[in-house]
Amino acid sequence: MLEKPLTFLSLSISLLTIAATPQWAQKLQQRPFGKAPDGQAVSLYTLRNASGMEVTITNYGGTITSVKVPDKNKNFGDVVLGFDNVDGYAAKENTSYFGATIGRYGNRLAHGKFTLNGHTYQVPTNDGPNSLHGGTIGFNRRIWQAKDVSTANAPALELHYLSPDGEQGFPGNLNVTIRYTLGKGNDLRIDYSATTDKDTVLNLTNHSYFNLAGPGSGTVLNHSLMLAADQFTPVDATLIPTGKLQSVAGTPFDFRKLTRIGERIDQNNEQLKLGKGYDHNFVLNTGGSLSKAAARVEEPTTGRVLEVFTDQPGIQFYTGNFLNGQTKGIGGAYQFRSALCLETQHFPDSPNHPNFPSTELKPGQQFHSTTIYRFSTK
Ligand code: GLA
Repeated sequence: MLEKPLTFLSLSISLLTIAATPQWAQKLQQRPFGKAPDGQAVSLYTLRNASGMEVTITNYGGTITSVKVPDKNKNFGDVVLGFDNVDGYAAKENTSYFGATIGRYGNRLAHGKFTLNGHTYQVPTNDGPNSLHGGTIGFNRRIWQAKDVSTANAPALELHYLSPDGEQGFPGNLNVTIRYTLGKGNDLRIDYSATTDKDTVLNLTNHSYFNLAGPGSGTVLNHSLMLAADQFTPVDATLIPTGKLQSVAGTPFDFRKLTRIGERIDQNNEQLKLGKGYDHNFVLNTGGSLSKAAARVEEPTTGRVLEVFTDQPGIQFYTGNFLNGQTKGIGGAYQFRSALCLETQHFPDSPNHPNFPSTELKPGQQFHSTTIYRFSTK
């Protein structure tokens, strides 16, 4: 039977439908990203907004693999470090957590221990004597279930992972959902939610390495930084907080005014020596408000600006001091201090510091936290 010929009316209706559908309401683009070490195929999802900003995320590790934003001359370029296939992320040698989702417990737990309801839990120690970023197989090495949750207003991706009771030594079945939404104002919003069926601890973050001049384009020492923090949490020789909240006033940790990152990084300061540069948690004074910038970064040659908004109490400012040129990723070899991380978080080792805000999650409670990375130029 002949197909019904396309009438003028039906043609105009379909053209109208296309014209009325905003560009960003299209489905997310999904493409293969290779196979995880267990043989499972993983994908890369592209979120693109109306002004052309593009973010790619893989469901391997809930990892942001690229963030393409314009510079002051409207040239689009990537501003995060990463790899162009899953093998780079999955490699055993990759201990840098490029772009990854960090959990269950972001940053360090002293001796991999914490106590809840009188029971002491032991989680893997993978950073000297301490546990770092969730243990030997953290959320950064898990495969997440992906769902396109784009709306007419914004492209959005949801990733889900059920971390079983006892995984890496942590109690409770933890149901985690992360939603990435790319807004019209070149803002990437990350919403974390979680529930548990046993008392547990939780500290989720994203570990993107930013270089606003592009990955592989030298150090970030000429980037300028503002951090809305009057205090930071000084650390011991194994980078565990001493428990003190120290004023930034008169120290190289005072970023309350926009300051060049390289200006004081090599000063003769005990805390800078312990971190090999900046690798410290700052106590945010934004009071959990998503409308006050917790951090602002400016790069002079491209004019690119990044602002970070979060409802979390702290931010880990890390200047890539463990990068040493051994890792080759997009843009070349990743040299010492060639990127910066702004990991929004609860304070490191909180379960062992009753004076720090609590990271406990109990059955019946709904965990929620939000971080926004907004890009612009000046
Ligand atoms: C965090 C830590 C650093 C380092 C990186 C990953 O930023 O604070 O010390 O472990 O992750 O290399």
